Amino acid sequence: MVADESNMYIPGPNSWASGGSADRNKVELIPLLSPWLTGAAMNNGIPMESRKVLEVASGFGTQVSYFAEQTPSVTFQPTEAQDECIEAMKVVAELAKHRNILPPLELNVLSDQDWLNCAETSGPYDGIFVLNMLHISVWESTEKLFLHAGKLLQGRSAGFLAVYGAFKRDGEFSGEGDRLFDIDLKRRDSRWAIRDLESEIIPEAEKNGLKLKECHQMSFNNLLTIWTLS
Ligand SMILES: C[S@@+](CC[C@H](N)C(=O)[O-])C[C@H]1O[C@@H](n2cnc3c(N)ncnc32)[C@H](O)[C@@H]1O
Repeated sequence: MVADESNMYIPGPNSWASGGSADRNKVELIPLLSPWLTGAAMNNGIPMESRKVLEVASGFGTQVSYFAEQTPSVTFQPTEAQDECIEAMKVVAELAKHRNILPPLELNVLSDQDWLNCAETSGPYDGIFVLNMLHISVWESTEKLFLHAGKLLQGRSAGFLAVYGAFKRDGEFSGEGDRLFDIDLKRRDSRWAIRDLESEIIPEAEKNGLKLKECHQMSFNNLLTIWTLS
């Protein structure tokens, strides 16, 4: 991982990994995500064959492990910027019940070279998903995510980008919990913040040809957003 350039991610203690939130949200997410993972969402409800999906910022692989078990026909490519997470996910991939998780790749979203390496190693991808990253990384991560997603999804049938996490709506926090969370994020790193869907994310997506196709209200005021090129 490149960690010595000014805006590169420098890993801190992975406090987000405790508390079981990934175990909770994976169960809530799968019914909404699985039609996109399988391609059924854009194919008259019929799952498509040979789908391959890239996960950005997979953490310790809690969600990808579950999604892979629930959608055996889909192949998953987990990625991370942190070595500790990559090591953990090597085991997750080896233990996958349906053998449908590829060995994890290093992907710092800020690195164009990492995106290229991923695409060359295991692309093309039919979909991309990222859970709980935008608020806990610098703004340039969001820019790079949408830039590369826009490129990688070109020409993919039923291609999608799914982004899950905390968002502001029209400049407002979704609740007091999010307002306090945002203060805590900024205390940890002044560049981190809960991003605003309307004024920040939608314009960034549209810059790269991506449109908001679905927006689901989830537990804890989180949103699942689905973006497509058409
Ligand atoms: C809150 S954790 C979420 C992990 C997992 N997706 C989940 O929902 O449990 C945030 C993740 O974003 C990753 N991250 C932060 N900045 C990143 C970057 N520039 N490139 C790739 N991953 C990054 C961290 O390594 C961490 O795994």
